[in-house]
Amino acid sequence: MVQRLTERDFEFHLGYLGRAAQTAILADIRDVVKQAPMIQPMTPQRQKMSVRMTSAGRFGWIADPDGYRYDQRQPSGKTWPDIPRSILKIWRAVSGVTRDPDCCLINFYGEGARLGMHQDKDEGSFDWPVVSISLGDEALFRMGDVTRGGKTSSVWLKSGDVVVMGGAARLKYHGVDRIKFGSSPLLKKGGRINLTLRVAG
Ligand code: SIN
Ligand code: FE2
Repeated sequence: MVQRLTERDFEFHLGYLGRAAQTAILADIRDVVKQAPMIQPMTPQRQKMSVRMTSAGRFGWIADPDGYRYDQRQPSGKTWPDIPRSILKIWRAVSGVTRDPDCCLINFYGEGARLGMHQDKDEGSFDWPVVSISLGDEALFRMGDVTRGGKTSSVWLKSGDVVVMGGAARLKYHGVDRIKFGSSPLLKKGGRINLTLRVAG
């Protein structure tokens, strides 16, 4: 049963993907990672992020000491692998728009990894939603407002949950406080994968 929930204008499709769909997507992600290895980025503030990442699509999202941006090439110079169809299918079903995304950012959260509160604002236009797909361990997802600070609320995201950040939620601050390492059997060694689909340019 998919549970629909709106919280601070973020749209949640809780339990959207069943176990078979999650396993199929995981296999597709492993193919992507073979062609575009995960890296642990260093931010412009020269802090190592605790999250590891890679991308699929025409553009990948890059964080390095030069800044945050979308790039058509991996740090190795190669282009990014295509976004797997199993993932595009979810965007087409929940995004509410007819244009396909051109970036799928793949974040991996190992034990102790977190993602500070931020806005997704490196895209050329904020008229398109961002769709987030959670796989593996549970994560405490925190949502705020369009300005930093102020009241926030949070939801535990589980494997198979899908979140749409569009409309009034598109530029709202959000982040991941922590994961419950080992809470899901999907990834044999534990951890969480989050996919965010974006229209970059
Ligand atoms: C992100 O904001 O880029 C990822 C959110 C998440 O991991 O749930
Ligand atoms: Fe984000």
